[in-house]
Amino acid sequence: MLSRKISCDSHGQDSSYFLGWQEYEKNPYDRVQNPNGIIQMGLAENQLSFDLLESWIASNPDAVGLMKNGESVFKELALFQDYHGLSAFKKELVEFMAKIRGNKVKFDPNKLVLTAGATSANETLMFCLADPGDAFLLPVPYYPGFDRDLKWRTGVEIVPIKCSSSNGFKITSSALEEAYDQAQKLGLKVKGVLITNPSNPLGTSTTRDELNSLIDFIIAKNIHIVSDEIYSGTVFDSPSFVSITEAVGSRKLEDTQVWNRIHIVYSLSKDLGVPGFRVGMIYSNNETVVSAATKMSSFGLVSSQTQYLLSQILSDKKFTSKYIKTNRKRLQKRKQLMVSGLKNAGIKCLKSNAGLFCWVDMRHLLKSGSFEAEKELWKRILCDVGLNVSPGSSCHCPEPGWFRMCFANMSVETLKVAMQRVKAFTDSVTSANLASGRWNKHQPLLRNSKTKSMLTRWVCQLASSDCETDR
Ligand SMILES: Cc1ncc(COP(=O)(O)O)c(C=O)c1O
Repeated sequence: MLSRKISCDSHGQDSSYFLGWQEYEKNPYDRVQNPNGIIQMGLAENQLSFDLLESWIASNPDAVGLMKNGESVFKELALFQDYHGLSAFKKELVEFMAKIRGNKVKFDPNKLVLTAGATSANETLMFCLADPGDAFLLPVPYYPGFDRDLKWRTGVEIVPIKCSSSNGFKITSSALEEAYDQAQKLGLKVKGVLITNPSNPLGTSTTRDELNSLIDFIIAKNIHIVSDEIYSGTVFDSPSFVSITEAVGSRKLEDTQVWNRIHIVYSLSKDLGVPGFRVGMIYSNNETVVSAATKMSSFGLVSSQTQYLLSQILSDKKFTSKYIKTNRKRLQKRKQLMVSGLKNAGIKCLKSNAGLFCWVDMRHLLKSGSFEAEKELWKRILCDVGLNVSPGSSCHCPEPGWFRMCFANMSVETLKVAMQRVKAFTDSVTSANLASGRWNKHQPLLRNSKTKSMLTRWVCQLASSDCETDR
């Protein structure tokens, strides 16, 4: 009765990444109302600099009131229909992107296509660059949403570039070649590589050496590169951020064919912390891609009211300078709080310099080195510890035992509670280990029996064969 597209599950929405969210929504932590609830650590949202935006809005009521020079622009915006977007907004956006990159690169607003978030930008690029059944190579671990965004509606396949903890999950030339060979063995035509720089879930930016290997690779194979730079403004530590445009520019490749195969995805969801506004974009040097993507953007335009408000905010250069600087400092401080909380619980993280999360190494807490054991630990962390974290398997990490934990979507107090829970958990594991050699005999940390039984029921549904409770 229904289409094959909606009947298949290639959207990835039933991965543990999304299922953990659903569970959180049924029982969210609240310090007063629900202190035993689940703390959401699976959401890469930046709430740390919201006050700066709110105070800008409070001092600039005309922007929200759609007034300009004492006159209403309501009618103009309400009737605005051009899918090229407001030129004033695009001009401010490219300046903001350049500022985040230390003004080392310049962007042309004519090469920019507005989309409803980076989600839509990534999908649109897939439609423009690949046919159903073609492949894109992606370094693993990658953002779980890519299975939906890149594959689901386009029919494009993802082939993993296997990165390993042995070198901090860096992209190597041999891993690129291996992925390419793998795609060919599968009979797939490789159309490009997609990287996330800085990486979600690693929280690290791509080094210049990695970018150079990638550029060599796409030249050799005559394919595209898409660089999702949605976290570019979150780089709070060295090494500093190097955009793919800067790396290509420093090799003086602007006048070569490769320039037309470089595409950037960006969005204001993370750097400005406004994912609800759905503002994303494609920046491409390829005129045909820009023209096709502009036409496709009709399926996911950014409201002109939103474009207007954001163009007012971004045109205040004093504000954006302060925002970028303050936001980075706050992220760094917050990340440090999480890293030291985890360290106190005997847990290490991958050394990172960006993002809204840490890539956390819990391999020592697994019962065995398998993905089954990772799932079991994840269930314990969700049900007993009361934290919704993302297991590495949801990011297609090739090694079990890694988890992504977000730190910028909650208050300091909540993060401290989360770290206390982690500490209590690892202490209980240690004592259980000492007592019996089996870490899973620890006491549940969530005392709310209603919560526990509800969670347990759900986990049983999730993994009907292996749900072992310890009530
Ligand atoms: C790497 C990456 N790309 C794209 C997105 C989607 O962003 P948006 O909210 O702008 O659609 C996310 C969101 O988490 C992300 O992490």
